[in-house]
Amino acid sequence: MFETKPDITGCAEIETLVNTFYDRVRTDEVLGFIFNEVAHTNWTTHLPKMYAFWETVLFRTGGFTGNPLAAHAKLVPLTDMGRDKFDHWLQLFRRTVDDLFAGERAEHIKNCAADMANVIYSRINGVPDPRFDPANLTPEQLARYSRYQQPAA
Ligand code: HEM
Repeated sequence: MFETKPDITGCAEIETLVNTFYDRVRTDEVLGFIFNEVAHTNWTTHLPKMYAFWETVLFRTGGFTGNPLAAHAKLVPLTDMGRDKFDHWLQLFRRTVDDLFAGERAEHIKNCAADMANVIYSRINGVPDPRFDPANLTPEQLARYSRYQQPAA
């Protein structure tokens, strides 16, 4: 028998996802100490902030008003916030989504997370966004972007 997982349809699923993800993050051997010992995260306020964040991303209803770039930039002088950390974060996030949900929104939230991980990683570390590295582009994107590089006639 196939087990059918639900898709993310509203705030209840977002809360389940966020709670499960940060339960894993807190005890994760690569990421846990950043929250527990570097940022000294107050989970009572951080979790509702993350519900609002993802509700805003998915449904535009969360009312999130934070500043993710500043929040992560603050960590750079205190701990390594390199590509490996972001890849690990993403792997854990994707796995958590897949353990709980399946469907269009589940795919969408994983894509949003990957985009934001790229933006946050590259901006706080002052390196180019890997999404625009020619090695990561599809042939269609390469052809489309090359049009912008042609000198004006
Ligand atoms: C290496 C990967 C990451 C680490 C170690 C990390 C760690 C943290 C920490 C320590 C905080 C502050 C929590 C506090 O207030 O104490 C934070 C806030 C936050 N993180 Fe991350 N994070 C990572 C990746 C991401 C990604 C990829 C996203 C988005 C998809 C994200 C979204 C957020 C948001 C929305 C906040 C709240 C910002 C605010 O206060 O306005 N994080 N993160």
